[in-house]
Amino acid sequence: MSATDEMQESTDEASLQLDADGNLRHLLTLKGLDKALLTDILDDAEGYLTTPGSLPARSQSLAGRTVANLFFEPSTRTRASFDLAGKRLGADVLNLDVNTSSRKKGESILDTIYTLEAMQVDVMVVRDASAGVPANIARNVQEHVSILNAGEAEVSHPTQGLLDLLTIRQHKQHFENLTIAIVGDIRHSRVAMSASHGLATLGVGELRLISPPSLAPDEESLPGSVILDNLEEGLAGADVVMALRIQRERIGNLEGIPAIDQYFANFGISEERLKNAAPDVIVMHPGPMNRGIEIESVVADGSSSVITQQVTNGVAVRMAVLDRVSRIMATR
Ligand code: CP
Repeated sequence: MSATDEMQESTDEASLQLDADGNLRHLLTLKGLDKALLTDILDDAEGYLTTPGSLPARSQSLAGRTVANLFFEPSTRTRASFDLAGKRLGADVLNLDVNTSSRKKGESILDTIYTLEAMQVDVMVVRDASAGVPANIARNVQEHVSILNAGEAEVSHPTQGLLDLLTIRQHKQHFENLTIAIVGDIRHSRVAMSASHGLATLGVGELRLISPPSLAPDEESLPGSVILDNLEEGLAGADVVMALRIQRERIGNLEGIPAIDQYFANFGISEERLKNAAPDVIVMHPGPMNRGIEIESVVADGSSSVITQQVTNGVAVRMAVLDRVSRIMATR
């Protein structure tokens, strides 16, 4: 595909997710969503957070609606939080077990979608290893159905991006003065892609992407960021550090990928290395973590870590997104 075609496809995808009045109909990517909409979603999500130990927030805003979780790749956090988010908003939630579904008998993904549409499913939450699948489904569903991207190849993970933005905002308030360091396998990370798109829209001060050269992104894929291969330099004065795991499932040829001990020695987030960051640095990780490889346990469980808060925010963000797309269903 040429660069022009890629740009056209990404523009189409960005416009596909909004209706004629600019309301969110599908969530496929954070690219192309404006600051006002991102801020509104984060504000809505904050409204679903309750104090630790108290009962979770609930509403009946999705009562009568049906949400189907279709995870064609493994997941713990995203799948569980979409499940809880739908139920806490009063929806019926269907978790399709892909391993025992008719996909195993050769049914196409679109035929699976049409089957669920015929059962009056309103929202389909889709995770898939192939790029373009959520957008392709969105182009083919009926007017009243919404598609939410729950992780698409190395391309996009928009609700993860939103929960990361919310977590950063809770601790740092203003994005424009921040230095944010994302460390690890940037090249294969949909988390890094969505975080970068959201942070660029919210006007982050400086975004550093730090990785071994074999795991560095294409420069043109994330314009505006600083690409580094030296962790000390990358962590210097950072307000936020996000560690990523190596996405081995997306790497065809592991040649050139550092061995585990070599990786930790050069790119692992350790207590010692964090001394270079800002004194009030927060440490993030989307999970699942590989302790002792991309992050030391003492850091993952330490006072700078906001990793469990990211998980909590994941439910709130997914409630906010489900509520937002359901608001316009009645009008379609
Ligand atoms: N962060 C994330 O997507 O985690 P899961 O793969 O467990 O959903």
